[in-house]
Amino acid sequence: MFPRLAAVSALLVASANALGISLPGFVTTKGSQFSLNGKPFFFAGTNAYWLSFLTNLSDTSLAMDKAKAAGHSVIRIWGFNDKNATFDPNGLPQYSPDSDAIFFQSWDNGKPTISAGLQHLDQVISLAERKGLKLTVALTNNWADYGGMDVYTANLGGSFHDDFYTAPKIKNAFKNYVRTLVSRHVLSPAIFAWELGNEPRCGADGTRNLPRSPSGCDTAVMTAWAKEISAFVKSIDPFHMVVVGSEGFFSVPGGSDDWAYSGADGVDSEALLRLKTIDAGTFHLYPDWWSKDPLTWAPDFIAAHGTLQRKVGKPVIMEEYGWMTPEARLSSLGIVSNVTRLQALGLWQDTSIAQRLAGDQYWQLGVDGLSFGLSTNDGFTIYMQNKTEAGPLIFDHVKKVQALNH
Ligand SMILES: *[C@@H]1O[C@H](CO)[C@@H](O)[C@H](O)[C@H]1NC(C)=O
Ligand SMILES: *[C@@H]1O[C@H](CO)[C@@H](O)[C@H](O)[C@H]1NC(C)=O
Ligand SMILES: *[C@@H]1O[C@H](CO)[C@@H](O)[C@H](O)[C@H]1NC(C)=O
Ligand SMILES: *[C@@H]1O[C@H](CO)[C@@H](O)[C@H](O)[C@H]1NC(C)=O
Repeated sequence: MFPRLAAVSALLVASANALGISLPGFVTTKGSQFSLNGKPFFFAGTNAYWLSFLTNLSDTSLAMDKAKAAGHSVIRIWGFNDKNATFDPNGLPQYSPDSDAIFFQSWDNGKPTISAGLQHLDQVISLAERKGLKLTVALTNNWADYGGMDVYTANLGGSFHDDFYTAPKIKNAFKNYVRTLVSRHVLSPAIFAWELGNEPRCGADGTRNLPRSPSGCDTAVMTAWAKEISAFVKSIDPFHMVVVGSEGFFSVPGGSDDWAYSGADGVDSEALLRLKTIDAGTFHLYPDWWSKDPLTWAPDFIAAHGTLQRKVGKPVIMEEYGWMTPEARLSSLGIVSNVTRLQALGLWQDTSIAQRLAGDQYWQLGVDGLSFGLSTNDGFTIYMQNKTEAGPLIFDHVKKVQALNH
């Protein structure tokens, strides 16, 4: 960029920040709701992380068309895929070395290089723009899938998962990546929000990730990190919203016997939502993984986020929620449940609407007809062509949520 242009653009960013300018076609917040072109914007969206990695853009386009036809105006995707130039089978994190041909950043003994693959992500974002879709783009991962935080940390001499939140060298490397990606899309109406990370926690997976430090991480550390990184994103891009991407755990005063309310993982949803540079809250809902009751605990968790939305006066999104198929539950957890997906998700969606949550996105979108057949099935996928499931959970639900906008 020419120095003059850089100065003008810095000035533009500074004035937009100061004036709280919003551009036509960009989603903003208005109290505890989203707003688009001056109208309320409640949405029923979806998750399709794999849209970033399909090698054939005609497939990406087809999947987006199907999502759009179903009324999903917001789709959440991965904006990260970090890999070592040389995969060490005994190294950490244990990402899958060959899961996807397209990656965004490559690491060679501590030195990161932006990959040509990032241009593919640019094309995915442009495609969404042409179709009038909006994307939430997560900037890194707590977990080992697609590399995530531990690739930075392992490469830059850190020993613990949570060094990612505190070590200046690691934070700077992450900011460099964030700047590279975010600065390319500052004026794109296809960005719904930038998301600091997928499910940031103090710790991660016991075998696939670096360990959590014995005493170095808590809600104060995580909140300070979210404050610093969200302010950094806003300094580059004042036009788009920023969300944390956390699972929405609470840290209630006086503590709690329930780990999801005790701050044990370093997540304090209220403190995060109160940050000036965070526009909306997020929470995820996986009673299968969390050993929680889908019909009692889960609606209480949703209602607690409804309460938080009203209390802080900013929107909250139920941004991932899923209930396994019986087969997946048996094979991955070795248990059986008599609660069906229609029952569980149906109840959560109704609860979300009753609480007037600002948006929701089930995990995850399933489509057929791609050049290789069906999109990926991780045991949570809802295939649009399966009308038994998609009828109520996608098509009917979208209509009910859209009705909130009239
Ligand atoms: C790409 O996808 C489109 C539509 O999904 C398909 O028609 C086409 O054959 C695919 N191309 C290749 C090279 O696989
Ligand atoms: C990636 O590289 C770093 C730095 O050399 C190393 O510590 C780590 O174990 C590597 N991980 C993998 C999966 O190759
Ligand atoms: C489902 O199982 C629970 C016990 O796990 C039981 O209390 C409940 O009655 C069962 N519900 C149905 C509909 O079978
Ligand atoms: C369609 O959804 C129903 C209800 O969840 C499920 O029982 C059935 O197995 C699904 N069909 C296919 C072909 O996946």
